[in-house]
Amino acid sequence: MDLGIKNKVALLTGASSGLGFASAEVLLQEGAKVAICSRNAAKVEAAVQRLKERASNPEQVFGMVADYNDAAQATAFVKATQEKFGSIDILVCSSGGPAPGTATQFEAAQYQQAMQNNCLSFIDLTLSLVPAMRGKKWGRIVYITSSAAVQPVPSLVLSNVARTSLHAFAKSLSVEIAHDSVTVNCVMPGKLNTDRIMDLVRISAGKRGATLQEEMSQDFSKIPAGRYGQPRELGTLVGFLCSDCASYITGSAIAVDGGAIAGLR
Ligand SMILES: NC(=O)c1ccc[n+]([C@@H]2O[C@H](COP(=O)([O-])OP(=O)(O)OC[C@H]3O[C@@H](n4cnc5c(N)ncnc54)[C@H](OP(=O)(O)O)[C@@H]3O)[C@@H](O)[C@H]2O)c1
Repeated sequence: MDLGIKNKVALLTGASSGLGFASAEVLLQEGAKVAICSRNAAKVEAAVQRLKERASNPEQVFGMVADYNDAAQATAFVKATQEKFGSIDILVCSSGGPAPGTATQFEAAQYQQAMQNNCLSFIDLTLSLVPAMRGKKWGRIVYITSSAAVQPVPSLVLSNVARTSLHAFAKSLSVEIAHDSVTVNCVMPGKLNTDRIMDLVRISAGKRGATLQEEMSQDFSKIPAGRYGQPRELGTLVGFLCSDCASYITGSAIAVDGGAIAGLR
């Protein structure tokens, strides 16, 4: 299937590894120009290198060190991408995950920090890009969030709170700009094999005094697919949602969870 995004310009946050990187790979493979950022220079450099090696045209890859929580750095990333590739058609927001913990464990300041990291920074970034997308009558916005947005995880309260807010924003925005052919969707990972998920598994195994293998086996028993997903299994959905083919999908939240979310939604 031709996704119809050749030479579209995609800007991805938190994309030097994990789900953001997997999404960048798919978009690049489909012919888009991709700009990625993260905070760690070595990670950005390695990710750009890997993407260039796989690209039919390495010129379609751009990477920059930027912390999306720092407004000046986020703006500089947008500006550098526009200078390199032209105006931005596709925005994919991936993020660092918030600290694990339960509802009574954190103070308001930590909730605020999680809101900034997993919601408010992306609202800011989105609002800076939406006018140009509306002007062009074409745009795609995808937020990589969490299954916690629809099925709160008791040990991940900061995620539960921040993701639901971003989903509420995405839905509201989608209604407002659908008429201009700009779509807004959320993709909800369940458990996919990335650094983030392995960090959480390690923490959880440590608390229970279990081995990594025991902890993973317990996880697998709760996932109908019986395994963690691979980042690419989410990246392909992001690629599709960013495509011309997905022009009538907006305001949706789609899980990539191996069937783990209970209920019909
Ligand atoms: N993997 C899963 O199964 C799963 C499940 C549920 C929810 N999620 C959520 O999905 C999102 C992505 O998950 P992941 O597994 O891909 O995480 P990951 O493996 O930890 O990757 C996160 C990426 O974001 C970058 N990053 C973190 N903070 C940043 C910042 N302030 N500015 C710019 N870049 C930043 C990291 O690079 P630097 O360190 O260089 O900045 C890294 O490239 C997270 O919010 C996570 O909580 C994931």
